[in-house]
Amino acid sequence: MRSKSFPLTPPIAAPSILSADFARLAEDLAIVDPARDWVHCDVMDNHFVPNLTFGPLIVAAVRKLTPAFVDVHLMIDEPARLVPEFCKAGADQVTVHLEACINVSAALAAVREGGARVGLALKPGTPFASAERYLSDLDVLLVMTVEPGFGGQEFMEDMLPKVRDAVAWRQAHNARYLIEVDGGIAPDTARQARGAGAEVFVAGNAVYKERDPHVALAVLRQAIG
Ligand code: DX5
Ligand code: ZN
Repeated sequence: MRSKSFPLTPPIAAPSILSADFARLAEDLAIVDPARDWVHCDVMDNHFVPNLTFGPLIVAAVRKLTPAFVDVHLMIDEPARLVPEFCKAGADQVTVHLEACINVSAALAAVREGGARVGLALKPGTPFASAERYLSDLDVLLVMTVEPGFGGQEFMEDMLPKVRDAVAWRQAHNARYLIEVDGGIAPDTARQARGAGAEVFVAGNAVYKERDPHVALAVLRQAIG
């Protein structure tokens, strides 16, 4: 069942369950406030990225465990084929990587057809300009601030100009996408990204590897304002 009152007004914290304890997923999801936060699910295929996580089955379990907005980040090659499965599993938003798609527009259309909000992600090496032709159709632009594949990496400060470009383009073209950052986000780096214009803050280790994830999430929310 999809919640009707999603938080879509920034700033939004999005704890990534990649760093959670899957043996106690219900408890780890309980820290998420459905009125304020999103739950970020990292799907990896050991092909687009050198790591393997989970598929629609776990997204469906997350869907059952929380009424919060489920933000699915697909780090898989040729995502279009599997998009309907993630939508059926209860994803509220599905983000595909520009670099992973043979036909980006078709993948974005598959998400829209599945009834989910539409996201496009850019790896650090992918210039902002390569996304421009798709930006008017997006609900979210995900600017990766680490190389996708693993939690716990260092925030790439040199991605901040890409965030600023996203802000400027949106204003110039009257577009509506939210700007999400993912990778190495902790209170200090979140503040930097917020300063550049980021609006949704994915955090794995900075929430779930802290002694008290509930407190860590509260600190992150405070940092982003
Ligand atoms: C990395 C994933 C991230 C990951 C972030 O490829 O997309 O969502 O969970 O983890 P941290 O916050 O630990 O960098
Ligand atoms: Zn992610």
